[in-house]
Amino acid sequence: MEFYYGNVVLLTGASSGIGKLTAEYLAELGCKVYGTSRKGENGTIVFPNDSSTNSKQATLKGFVKMVQLDVCNDLSVKDAVDYVIQQESRIDVLINNAGFGISGAIEETSEKEAFSQFDTNFFGMHRMCRKVLPIMRKQRKGLIINIGSVAGTFSIPYQSMYSASKSAMKSFTEALRMEVREFGIRAVVIEPGDTQTGFTDNRYYSQESESTSYPKGKASIEKMIKDERNGDRPIGVAKTIGKLLNAKNPPSRVTIGMVYKVFTQLKRVLPSRLVEFILGKMYG
Ligand SMILES: NC(=O)c1ccc[n+]([C@@H]2O[C@H](COP(=O)([O-])OP(=O)(O)OC[C@H]3O[C@@H](n4cnc5c(N)ncnc54)[C@H](OP(=O)(O)O)[C@@H]3O)[C@@H](O)[C@H]2O)c1
Repeated sequence: MEFYYGNVVLLTGASSGIGKLTAEYLAELGCKVYGTSRKGENGTIVFPNDSSTNSKQATLKGFVKMVQLDVCNDLSVKDAVDYVIQQESRIDVLINNAGFGISGAIEETSEKEAFSQFDTNFFGMHRMCRKVLPIMRKQRKGLIINIGSVAGTFSIPYQSMYSASKSAMKSFTEALRMEVREFGIRAVVIEPGDTQTGFTDNRYYSQESESTSYPKGKASIEKMIKDERNGDRPIGVAKTIGKLLNAKNPPSRVTIGMVYKVFTQLKRVLPSRLVEFILGKMYG
């Protein structure tokens, strides 16, 4: 496969879910993927592994190597990016995927909890971009893919901090695109909907489950959990990213899944109170 931007990929949050599957998928295509986790040692090869070497992977040039990274820590971000540069002397694609979700009523979410949501999902992405952009600028080429969420377009009750962090990611990416275009760098937000990953079990609850102030919150969060457990498999996101690696002029946003694509289009034309009514019925 041809890679317009090159095949050296740095992908945050590759130990689980969307990131893990995407890392393996891109390695199968022939990418050198440096996938990150807060745990583990730099350079550990996780793909190809014993179960994949018998098959077509035997002929692959691609791999997934782990890199230790906490996106909330400046020094950790520097060390991870430096490690990839030591190994490859370049970074062609940065995929900001590391993230988690906080659920609970706004009134019952502390400032510390709200900040921790933004620290990973938004400032983590900013830290990564600040470290990688000078490298891409020198290369005069690069692609940044930010993993947002449909919640960044449709704010979900009792998921306010998560929705806001993904909405902020979208605004950030739109501005970034215009700033870096002249350097041959492109940026995209991918918006998956409910996806079966570790996300559901890793969710943080700022609201007491038996909250008397917001009794509807519990039912709403339970509905969200059910939707995620019955959601899409992450392969759709991985395949979309695979296509973007060869897109000279990618769009600013790619929504995953036909239902979510239709919802996104409808939001543009429907009155906002109707959209609110529908979301309220679903999650309120
Ligand atoms: N699942 C869904 O329904 C869904 C829908 C839309 C968007 N998304 C987005 O997709 C992305 C991936 O989530 P997922 O669904 O695949 O969840 P997941 O299975 O829980 O994976 C999350 C990944 O993020 C990493 N991570 C979390 N905090 C980190 C930090 N501070 N520094 C570095 N890495 C960190 C974790 O790595 P370690 O714990 O090993 O460090 C893990 O690899 C997230 O941005 C999420 O918001 C998910």
